[in-house]
Amino acid sequence: MQGFDCQNVLSRRARSFKLSPIQQLSLLAQRCNAINLAEGFPDFPAPLHIKEAAVAAITADFNQYRHVQGVCEKVASAFEMAHGVKVDPATEVTLCCGQSEALAAAILAVVEANDEVVILEPAYDTYEACTILAGGKPVFVSLDPPFWSLDLKKLDAAIGPKTKAVIINSPHNPTGKVFSKVELADITNLCCKHGCLAITDEVYEHITFDDVKHVSLASFPGMKERTIVTSSLSKTFGVTGWRIGWAIAPSALTSAIQIIHTKLTDSAPAPFQEAALTALQSCPDFYKSLKQEYQFRRDYVCNFLNDFGFIVHFRPQGSFFVFVELPSEVRFDDIEYVMEAINTLGIAFVPGCAFFNKSGAEENLKFHVSTDLAKKGLQMPRNLKGSNDASENLVSNPYKHRYIRVAFCKDISTLQAAKLALRRQCK
Ligand SMILES: Cc1ncc(COP(=O)(O)O)c(C=O)c1O
Repeated sequence: MQGFDCQNVLSRRARSFKLSPIQQLSLLAQRCNAINLAEGFPDFPAPLHIKEAAVAAITADFNQYRHVQGVCEKVASAFEMAHGVKVDPATEVTLCCGQSEALAAAILAVVEANDEVVILEPAYDTYEACTILAGGKPVFVSLDPPFWSLDLKKLDAAIGPKTKAVIINSPHNPTGKVFSKVELADITNLCCKHGCLAITDEVYEHITFDDVKHVSLASFPGMKERTIVTSSLSKTFGVTGWRIGWAIAPSALTSAIQIIHTKLTDSAPAPFQEAALTALQSCPDFYKSLKQEYQFRRDYVCNFLNDFGFIVHFRPQGSFFVFVELPSEVRFDDIEYVMEAINTLGIAFVPGCAFFNKSGAEENLKFHVSTDLAKKGLQMPRNLKGSNDASENLVSNPYKHRYIRVAFCKDISTLQAAKLALRRQCK
């Protein structure tokens, strides 16, 4: 009897997705026990007051499907306080399994086959993936390096009759850009002019530096009725594994998002919804020290990267990433550099191309086994010095292969270890 060919039954959709370079690198970094400056989650403990709330909820047997209306009320009142926009917690908030599910449910709720969704890149990769899963077509508009400026003419030209929505992520992963009020006002004008929706990703809303403030696009005149705001507890409270997020949207959209959320996952994890009640009532000092601590880490990391020849054109205004250009003498492209850094420095970064569409983002890391590394179960790129692949990439994508993303949401001891490793190599 013939075996069943599982590959054959895969949908075209499933075949079109690969593990992202971030996930591939994480696996590699784990196998090598590398210092992980790749992934966007903290390696330090979450705040005690919310952990205690989660433990209490588990002890109190909050084990079943659950929808905690109180969390929607806290989300709505926090949004009103921060942005002056009134939100009805009963009809305009959907609690989801992280921002990821909120974004997926939002896109599935509004995107029809062949609708276009405009994505500013570099971009977090789920926007493209969710658009494709919904049958839509991602349309990319590049933010211009080195300051990741928004070229309004390019955005205007990219929005057309088929555009259903524009996705705006601010504070921005991977660049750390926080969109200014002027930029948001310009985006508002374009959304109103073209009659399209905006979907925002505001997961880094509380992590901004210096005097920069996060402003939600939904707070601009005419935008509340055409914006789906998504965010979560993940980054603010360092609990990416709790899977608590939300979408705030006009009631007609919220009803659709709620139904899709129910069909996808039914409800967010019950004990963590209880803990979210506590988290969302954290005192102002919590948010103040969150900013201060991340700002300290940002400065520490930007300074040492600078000292070691990386080019920090743009000091992050928010989020917990810095997107830096490789030192000018480095001849590797971003992927080769990252592989080399895991091998020789024991540090994992993310290659910048992971945040750009097809020409870079779908690229599979080019693993080639080298003999002594193979013994460690590792794979490294071939032609480590001046590879042909690197020069091809550099010619066709002059900057998309010159950046790496460095996460600084790590314990100071982790960041110190990374600095030491870089210094050793520079000697
Ligand atoms: C810009 C951005 N949006 C969303 C997410 C995922 O958020 P959540 O954990 O709430 O699904 C991430 C995680 O890295 C992110 O960087």
